[in-house]
Amino acid sequence: MLVSPSILSADWTRLDAAVRLADEGADWLHCDVMDGHFVPNLTFGPPMVAALHRMTRLPLDVHLMIDEPLRSAPAFVDAGAHVLTVHVEAPGVAGPGWPVPAPDAVGGAHPIDRRVLRATLERLRALGVKVGLALRPDTGIGEIESVLEAVDVLLVMTVYPGFSGQSFLPAPLETIRRAVGVRRARGLSFLIEVDGGVVIEDTGPRVAAAGADVIVAGHGVYRQADPVSAMRALRALQPAAYAPGGPADGGDAA
Ligand code: DX5
Ligand code: ZN
Repeated sequence: MLVSPSILSADWTRLDAAVRLADEGADWLHCDVMDGHFVPNLTFGPPMVAALHRMTRLPLDVHLMIDEPLRSAPAFVDAGAHVLTVHVEAPGVAGPGWPVPAPDAVGGAHPIDRRVLRATLERLRALGVKVGLALRPDTGIGEIESVLEAVDVLLVMTVYPGFSGQSFLPAPLETIRRAVGVRRARGLSFLIEVDGGVVIEDTGPRVAAAGADVIVAGHGVYRQADPVSAMRALRALQPAAYAPGGPADGGDAA
């Protein structure tokens, strides 16, 4: 398992110490960028990512929870992003975007323009960055399955984006399992990253069993008594797809 601790949950009065902890046990460093429009919270932009890039050699895993992410994508690449992830639901990514559904909404197809989505992913790739595509819990993999060959990282959210420390939502576990199946059936190699409410005690093993390759953890690392041990424990989890005889093992996963 790759582990990507979220710097949003660190103590920013001791940012250097937080990055040193990540250096000891992480594979990537997750940067949660929020604009106060796509999500009801506002965090940081390219200058913070650039500062982190100067502080660590860890690949920066930049999660854009912003409207019109292509507008600022070049600035994040210049700042040192290694993976740049955009939300399919955000305005400008696959059309006009769509808001979080009301709690009593009846599910329906989202207004995805796949031509626009493909162009977005191509423009990200042309910037020379790993291309990430994120799904909110209300978005199913069927809606974006046809573009997965243009994606390096599929980020499955297990909370509604906006805040760290929320409770894990189990419904997207099915999205992870389906992503494993699509990847195998189509011979693709994108990584499956899971973000939101993941901790080693219970939800970590569940997302691993579903087939996640990368775990993002905010509270699950930085709000633990021993963040380095927490990262090591998460890292030791095996994605089900790679475990011989595991539930997602089809015998052909490398
Ligand atoms: C939520 C962010 C997550 C979050 C993770 O909008 O995308 O990355 O900070 O924090 P935890 O692990 O505490 O849910
Ligand atoms: Zn995130």
